[in-house]
Amino acid sequence: MATPHNQALMGEIAKTVLMPGDPLRAKFLAKTYLQDVKQFNSVRNMFGYTGTYKGKKVSIMGSGMGMPSIGIYSYELFSYYGVENIIRIGSCGSFKEAVRLRDIIIVQGCCTDSNFAHQYELPGTYSAISDYGLLEKAVNKAKEKDVSYHVGNILSSDIFYHADQKTADKWASMGCLGVEMESYALFATAAYLNKKALTLLTVSDSLVSNEQTSAEEREKSFTAMMEIALEIA
Ligand code: HPA
Repeated sequence: MATPHNQALMGEIAKTVLMPGDPLRAKFLAKTYLQDVKQFNSVRNMFGYTGTYKGKKVSIMGSGMGMPSIGIYSYELFSYYGVENIIRIGSCGSFKEAVRLRDIIIVQGCCTDSNFAHQYELPGTYSAISDYGLLEKAVNKAKEKDVSYHVGNILSSDIFYHADQKTADKWASMGCLGVEMESYALFATAAYLNKKALTLLTVSDSLVSNEQTSAEEREKSFTAMMEIALEIA
């Protein structure tokens, strides 16, 4: 059955979905890495594809930017399409000098300034963490490759252009490695629905040095992250 945001039919989406933020990246990755690719969604141009990687059925779909967007797509994939694992493959800003441009962050957990988890009416603060099995597999793959990677906590923020630039220093002082805008909602949704999620990030910009990667550099570091995601899918 289709949803308001996804026209796929049950069975058209694999048990594991890789989710970049950008739907055009989903299209590029599906065409580059998967065989026998079939597009399952184009509603709102949030493209989704299913194909095979080394004989294994895998789907790739855009999540859009921010927690409301990934909250919708991940909820529907888990609830209505039998998806068991979502691996977000995204980019982030670095909070630490040691976390350099093009490095990979394998996200262990995330903090947030969002009230996404208020819906669960918990008597405290929900700590959103990745699935340990997926995390361990990703770490093992990263070790096999010649890549610089970090494992740890990040900030999932609702705000890209923050009015108070000092907030980054505060999160950094609590050990957060970097900032993106989706993982907290993805991990919380997975926990709520008893499913599995992981986020892999490449560092696209630094909030410490204000450097940014070029589009071409982003593409290259994205390739290593993508291969890790595909191999553990
Ligand atoms: N802030 C939030 N999200 C991001 C950033 C950033 O600096 N870079 C990539 N995603």
